[in-house]
Amino acid sequence: MSLYRNGIWFLNGLHQYTRSAAVKNFEPQDLEVSVVGRSFMITGANSGIGRATAMAIAKKGGTVHMVCRNKGKAEEARSDIVSESGNTEVHVHIVDMSETHNVWEFAEAFKSQYPALNVLINNAGCMVHAREVTAEGLEKNFATNTMGVYILTQTLIPLLQKSRDPRVITVSSGGMLVQKLRVADLQSETGYVDGITVYAQNKVRGGECNPGYERRSCNSNIVIMLLMVMLQQMSTYK
Ligand SMILES: NC(=O)c1ccc[n+]([C@@H]2O[C@H](COP(=O)([O-])OP(=O)(O)OC[C@H]3O[C@@H](n4cnc5c(N)ncnc54)[C@H](OP(=O)(O)O)[C@@H]3O)[C@@H](O)[C@H]2O)c1
Repeated sequence: MSLYRNGIWFLNGLHQYTRSAAVKNFEPQDLEVSVVGRSFMITGANSGIGRATAMAIAKKGGTVHMVCRNKGKAEEARSDIVSESGNTEVHVHIVDMSETHNVWEFAEAFKSQYPALNVLINNAGCMVHAREVTAEGLEKNFATNTMGVYILTQTLIPLLQKSRDPRVITVSSGGMLVQKLRVADLQSETGYVDGITVYAQNKVRGGECNPGYERRSCNSNIVIMLLMVMLQQMSTYK
C-alpha cells in the first residue's frame, strides 16, 4: 500500500471511522422497527457481529437463518439467542463458506425449501495468514471472502427478488480502502504477502462485486449495500 493512500485513509478515518464520528450519524430510533414476518439469512452468525445481528433480529421478531460451519458452536449460539429473545424461529444451517460447491448446493436447496428471503447478510469472513488451499484448489481467504459470498448471493437473488423490500448486506472492512483492486492474481499464487493484504484484496473485490449484483437484480427493488467495519478484534484472525 502506498504512503499517499495510507495517509488519505488515516486522515479520512479520523473524520469518519472513529467511535465519536460514527455516533454523529447514528439515530437510535432507526432501530425501532418490527421485522415480524420477515426472514434474514446471516452467515457466520455464531460469533461477533453476526451473532449480535442474529440476536437483535430475533428480539425484533424476525425469522433468522444462521449459516455457520461448526455445528457445536452454531447450536450453542442458537440456544442462547432463542432463550434470550424468546423467538423460536431461529434456524441453523451448516455450511462452510470456503467450500463453494457446497455453498451452491445449500443455496439451491434453500430456494426449494423456503418461499421467501427478505435479507441476506454476508458476514462470515476470515483472515488466514499462511497460504492454505481448499480441497477445491482455491486459496482459503479468496474462497471464503470472495467466492463463497459471490456464489451465495448470485444463487439467492431470484429468491430475494420474490420478497418485499429485499436487501443484500455484505460486511466489508475499512482495510479495503488501503488496497487497489488487483485481478491478475486472484488466488495469491505469486507472492503471498501476508493475510492482511490478501484479506484487504478480498474485501476490495467484494465491493467490486456489488455493481454486478445490482445489474443482475435490475428491474427489481433489491437494495445492495456494503457495510464497512473498522478495527476491532476478530476471533477468526489466525
Ligand atoms: N472485527 C473487526 O475488526 C472487523 C473489521 C473489519 C471487517 N470485519 C468483518 O466483519 C465480519 C464479522 O467479523 P467479526 O469481527 O464478527 O469476527 P468473528 O467473531 O471472527 O466472526 C466471523 C464469523 O465468520 C465465520 N466464518 C469464518 N470462516 C467461515 C467459513 N469458511 N464458513 C462459515 N463461516 C465462517 C466464523 O465462524 P467460526 O466461529 O466457526 O470460526 C464466525 O462465525 C467479517 O466479514 C470481517 O471481515 C471485522
